[in-house]
Amino acid sequence: MSILITGGAGYIGSHTAIKLLEAGYDIVIIDDFSNSHPIVLDRIREITGKDFTFYEFNLCNAQKIEQVFAKESIEAVIHFAGFKAVGESVKQPITYYQNNLIAVLNVLHAMHQFHVNRIIFSSSATVYGYDNPVPFTEEMPISATNPYGYSKVFTEIMLADIAKASPDFCAVSLRYFNPVGAHASGKIGESPVGTPNNLMPYISQVAAGKLDHLAIFGNDYDTIDGTGVRDYIHVVDLARGHLNALNYTLQHTGNIAINLGTGQGYSVLEMVHAFEKANHVTIPYTIQPRRAGDIATGYADPTKAKQLLHWEATHTLEEMCASAWHWQKNNPNGYSENHTN
Ligand code: UD1
Repeated sequence: MSILITGGAGYIGSHTAIKLLEAGYDIVIIDDFSNSHPIVLDRIREITGKDFTFYEFNLCNAQKIEQVFAKESIEAVIHFAGFKAVGESVKQPITYYQNNLIAVLNVLHAMHQFHVNRIIFSSSATVYGYDNPVPFTEEMPISATNPYGYSKVFTEIMLADIAKASPDFCAVSLRYFNPVGAHASGKIGESPVGTPNNLMPYISQVAAGKLDHLAIFGNDYDTIDGTGVRDYIHVVDLARGHLNALNYTLQHTGNIAINLGTGQGYSVLEMVHAFEKANHVTIPYTIQPRRAGDIATGYADPTKAKQLLHWEATHTLEEMCASAWHWQKNNPNGYSENHTN
């Protein structure tokens, strides 16, 4: 029996693939390399010393998914594949809804046809929207302000409906907070195409001299120093959360959403200073107006993950910063020489 990992060549998917292989699972990866690179697969093999089956196609192709389910013996699915840039989703809503929702529907349909009942879905803290107080707990109402966020909300709702209709079904939506850092080997990490949108890869590229300075989006929030506060979580901790969630789905039925965060918020300035201290570099920055759509503060209540998945984050902020820099230094152009930054 194998675990199907969609988007397994991506940032979080590749770290999770390693955890599963190390834990002795057989895995099958589907990826279309729309935001990753074939070399990731070699690096997963190199790090683990293990092999796996790989298919290259886009999940909007229902027929190809069915062929995979017909050929492989799939026990559970971890569904990472999806577009994830908020700003781009606002400009290209059809592309986002098509890619993120048709894909998951195709996967769910194939699961139904082939009697595969267990799925772990990559959700996001973005579903807590604007109005919830921190820390965010899973019982809070969910909402979105852009097509990317709605694709997460809609998928969570679909999973809840399927679980209601199918007593043997088990879905875990993992609501990620802010994944950062990289594998200790320095061989896999986050490889944004073009200028990064997210804070940590942006800081790394400033440290590397690829970008001139960091633009901090607002210093007039009601936070410790006026800059936005987030719950940054080491991607290796996040990957381990999927392993625990997989074990949970093998023993339970129903539908559940679980936060994967540390429960600790850090401001943008705290992140800048932590990165400087951990890596002995200087990050020049300027203060710019707030970025549209940003909240002041977001961090998790991680209690449920501890109780149900027996999981909690163990990596420190210093480790997050050091591993992000280790990856950046070893791979100045990410995975591809063609990446232009
Ligand atoms: C963003 C998305 C979120 C998505 C997540 C995926 C938005 C509004 N939110 O979360 O939906 O699930 O990425 O990883 O895009 N910052 C700067 N300068 C920068 C970049 C970021 O000051 O160049 C600040 C932001 O204002 C924020 C913090 O750093 O306060 C974190 O930003 P980011 O890494 O983009 O994550 P989120 O906005 O939390």
